[in-house]
Amino acid sequence: MKITVVGAGNVGATCADVLAYREVANEVILLDIKEGVAEGKALDIWQKSPINLYDTRTVGSTSDYSKTAGSEVVIITSGLPRKPGMSRDDLIETNAGIVKTVTENVVKHSPDAIIIVVSNPLDVMTYQAHITSEMPRAKVMGMAGILDTARYRAFLAEALNVSPKDIQAVLMGGHGDTMVPLPRYTTVGGIPVTELIDEESLNAIIERTKFGGGELVKLMGTSAWYAPGAAAAQMAEAIVRDQRRVFPVCIKLEGEYGIDDCYLGVPVILGKNGVEKVIELDLNEAEKALLEDSRGHVKEVMAVLDKINS
Ligand code: NAI
Ligand code: 2OP
Repeated sequence: MKITVVGAGNVGATCADVLAYREVANEVILLDIKEGVAEGKALDIWQKSPINLYDTRTVGSTSDYSKTAGSEVVIITSGLPRKPGMSRDDLIETNAGIVKTVTENVVKHSPDAIIIVVSNPLDVMTYQAHITSEMPRAKVMGMAGILDTARYRAFLAEALNVSPKDIQAVLMGGHGDTMVPLPRYTTVGGIPVTELIDEESLNAIIERTKFGGGELVKLMGTSAWYAPGAAAAQMAEAIVRDQRRVFPVCIKLEGEYGIDDCYLGVPVILGKNGVEKVIELDLNEAEKALLEDSRGHVKEVMAVLDKINS
């Protein structure tokens, strides 16, 4: 069983490494347009196998999609990352072209693959991959919610001085400053978080989460890769092992939450068919308003993509 990761940069190489280390597939193909880079990183990951004890074969490819043929899952990480001062939306023009070409090649060689998009601006690049692939919406999704939720959970674990393993949370909406963390659906070992932390500290954590990507861009001069790579790998694992995990995932909404024709992060069940089910939470008025704000923002960027594609 084969998984392909397109883009052998920071996120793609990290993702391939996690997939190999966790033996999620027999074979992981890493593809990039930069001559030799994917081959080199795939070889390096393979040479780590006797140390970390895994037998997943990692194979690199410079633009040769025939090596990706028959992949069960394809993760698209190709595209520019942002630099300090840039928003994710500033990447749209360059990354739309990249995601379009990559998706065309992916579908040509792996017509049955489930596609996980990572490239930014995430929600709109998922839209690009979906319309280009012409596949059912359940098979084309974006990774952002697991990452944003992980940041929220990590900040909470630090503030409460507890294990991040015991924090469960849901975060919805677009992958940007309008994302919608949901304290009402956040628990610590089953205890509602609001019983363990004061409102002001919780609000500060929510704000830090919304700008969590930007915090790292400021520190490193480019965007994050360890958590994003691991998050994309976790989605692929849920699919190929048919785990039916409940994760926030970006998908085209078709009436859920009263929203039509917009790509947003929502809780879903992830299994062998991709998104097996979109879970509809009974949001209160304040939460609905935040989601509506996020929808409006993503729709604006979707309109920019429509213009680029017209
Ligand atoms: P990077 O610059 O380290 O790697 C990108 C790679 O894509 C490069 O190696 C480049 O050669 C390759 N590439 C460019 N055009 C290509 C094409 N047509 N075919 C194949 N490969 C191609 O960037 P990094 O840090 O890995 O980020 C990748 C993307 O993921 C960015 O758009 C970034 O904004 C996004 N991202 C999204 C996250 C999310 O939560 N959805 C989190 C982190 C990053
Ligand atoms: C992040 O949130 C840049 O989307 C990327 O780290």
